[in-house]
Amino acid sequence: MLLRALCCSLLLGILPVICMEHKGHISVVLLGATGDLAKKYLWRGLFQLYLDQAAKGNSFSFHGAALTPPEKGQELMFEVLKTLTCPADVTPNRCALMKDQFLKLSRYRQLKTAENYTALHQDIVSSLFDEGLHEAGRLFYLSVPPFAYADIARSINASCRPPPGAWLRVVLEKPFGHDYESAKQLASELQTVFLEDEIYRIDHYLGKQTVDQILPFRRRNRKHLDPIWNRRHMERVEIVLKETVDAKGRTSFYEEYGVIRDVIQNHLTEILTYVAMEVPLNLSNSEVLREKLELLGSLRNLEQSSTVIGQYLDYLPQVREELEKGTHFFSNTPTFAGVLAHIDNVRWEGVPFILTSGKALDERTGYVRVVFKDDAFCMQKEANRTSVRSPCKPKQIIFHIGHGDLGFPAILVSRGLFKPNLPTSQWQEASELPSLQLFGQPLSDYYVYRPVQEKDAYSLLLSNIYLGRKNSFITTKSLLASWNFWTPLLESLDQVSPRMYPGGSDNGHLLDFVMKDGGLHFAADQHLEVLGMGQKADTFGVAQSKFLGSPLVSDWAEHLIQQLAHNIQEAAEEAIKRSGSFHLALSGGSSPTALFQRLSRHHHGFPWKHTHLWVVDERCVPLTDPDSNFGNLEEHLLQHVRVPYLNIHPMPVHRNQRLCVEEDLGTEAYTQEISALVGNASFDLVLLGLGNDGHTASIFPGARDGVEGDKLVVFTESPSKPHQRMSISLPLINKARKVMVLVLGKGKHDIVTLISRVKQDPKKWPITGVNPTSGKMVWYIDYEALLR
Ligand code: BG6
Repeated sequence: MLLRALCCSLLLGILPVICMEHKGHISVVLLGATGDLAKKYLWRGLFQLYLDQAAKGNSFSFHGAALTPPEKGQELMFEVLKTLTCPADVTPNRCALMKDQFLKLSRYRQLKTAENYTALHQDIVSSLFDEGLHEAGRLFYLSVPPFAYADIARSINASCRPPPGAWLRVVLEKPFGHDYESAKQLASELQTVFLEDEIYRIDHYLGKQTVDQILPFRRRNRKHLDPIWNRRHMERVEIVLKETVDAKGRTSFYEEYGVIRDVIQNHLTEILTYVAMEVPLNLSNSEVLREKLELLGSLRNLEQSSTVIGQYLDYLPQVREELEKGTHFFSNTPTFAGVLAHIDNVRWEGVPFILTSGKALDERTGYVRVVFKDDAFCMQKEANRTSVRSPCKPKQIIFHIGHGDLGFPAILVSRGLFKPNLPTSQWQEASELPSLQLFGQPLSDYYVYRPVQEKDAYSLLLSNIYLGRKNSFITTKSLLASWNFWTPLLESLDQVSPRMYPGGSDNGHLLDFVMKDGGLHFAADQHLEVLGMGQKADTFGVAQSKFLGSPLVSDWAEHLIQQLAHNIQEAAEEAIKRSGSFHLALSGGSSPTALFQRLSRHHHGFPWKHTHLWVVDERCVPLTDPDSNFGNLEEHLLQHVRVPYLNIHPMPVHRNQRLCVEEDLGTEAYTQEISALVGNASFDLVLLGLGNDGHTASIFPGARDGVEGDKLVVFTESPSKPHQRMSISLPLINKARKVMVLVLGKGKHDIVTLISRVKQDPKKWPITGVNPTSGKMVWYIDYEALLR
């Protein structure tokens, strides 16, 4: 009779009442019981639920479950349970007793196979039978990765449903899909096994006390709000979640989701609906959900121009490290976004709703700020406007979700508006306010209300699950309506490069944005002033300047490659128009790999059919060797595009089954091929790299051949392995119509700095001998190489 005994002893021991009528037993099954979320919030929330509800007639049991075998799982789970504490309003005696009861009611079990679920069901049924208790409901909390949902859902449905008359509630954590289609598919899988009423999708922001209060606040204060909660009075609404943390440790998730999917599509959009939907007379489940859907349906489609996106600088290295990607890997995943939304209905026509969030920002804070129009003209001079109710003071309502300078959740209403009415059992007017300015006003200009007792979001949501308050959860319809709104924008952003930002307070004004021409634009200009080597840039974006007297394009590597690929395609189209073909000589090494990938993946309209591909230099290894430049070209470009076979011109380093033997006349053969096919031996475009020692192509410092004279193709020696090389000569390079030099990475900073200072001396610094006779030269140097 343990469960019943605990229920009654609890009532008798703590409260001076007799054991009240037993309302039934609730079994809570927490899957993922030893995971991070469970450790941080869920067990705490369940304990709080027990504290709040145990004395009200239900009895409980808690089954922590995971894949871990029983003994280990039990140990891990109890380590967490032992650390549970009570809120301040619970006396130490009661706390100790309740915690003891809670531990007795909690047990661990391994849930791995279908049989494990059947056994769980049988255990619940038989122990309730032994205790003479009837089952009121079963709550399954799936704190597991979404790929596990479908299997678990099937097992619950097949063998773990409670008997008729008792409810089943299955709680799921996001992500609920990745876009409209995947969300729909996941939803339909769930719908084959559960009723809509049984599914509780968590958005933990709906459990934040201030967010939870938005609708009741609007309802209670409708006398004041009704006249002003509309387009005639509202200037704009800002919904903001700023974070200082970055995505380190979570990049495998983040790389697929990015900031919009991670928090804007869900948390901020849910908040938007609470702020903007019609408030039903009755805040019951069905009416709130109906109004929410109506609102989601009135959101105007987003354009790409409705958005600004950014990515913190360390994100790419973190992704490369955690996902084991090479330096050729780049990412467009936004870690910051600002979105301008509009609602096409009579109430909100023309009112901007700005949703913004980001990682690696300068502060952690979250709020909704409703700014009212400034309709006053003030005759009194500013210093004399002392009354907090002066119409000349800004008017705003802030739902402060947490953190920030204020440091606690609060609802703030400008005193010039009205004194808000909030349920006194939950909210109290804050006393002893810090002397702080919030959104341009000292705190004393606001009525400030804060929760009587701060609760974390999961405690509130677990209580709402227990109470069956579905309007704090995401229904299938509203989930799909939200994805329907966001998916087209997300797709259109796939190929858009985010603005890079350094992170933290170094971001300066870089991410500030303005509303202009119906969209959003970054406020700070993109242009970087390259004033000379050694000077630091303080703004970011594509830079155009001069380097060693030739045009310089500089940007973060990924954007630089995009720009270069674009310029190569332009050059190809121009050459084909002029002469019917495009002769492109490409260099080896690692830098151009990302370029090859970019060209093959994103330049579907590239005129490959009329393009001849040559190599600038080659290592004396078979063309199939991993060190071969041609091999690299083949792997990253040729295998993916359709270049006619006869247009591909590898260097003949391997002849007569020997490598680079002078008598085999490889250099002569390549010279002849060039002379025969390339008009005037003038390539349309030569792409070069720059070595740390100042070499380019395979012309190394101190080279005997290839620096001057009339040889077009030469054998050379490299200081590093493989030593023997074949290369086109500087004189041949200088005949080209265009020469582009690509330099990437911090490792090149020193040589870039050095050659910017030395005199032209091709014997010592071969790169300084690149100087097209009548063609053009352009440098593509990324910020890391240029500025480190
Ligand atoms: C989660 C996101 O949903 O919300 C995280 O996945 C984000 O990326 C978190 O950090 C923010 O929640 P909170 O409660 O810490 O503001």
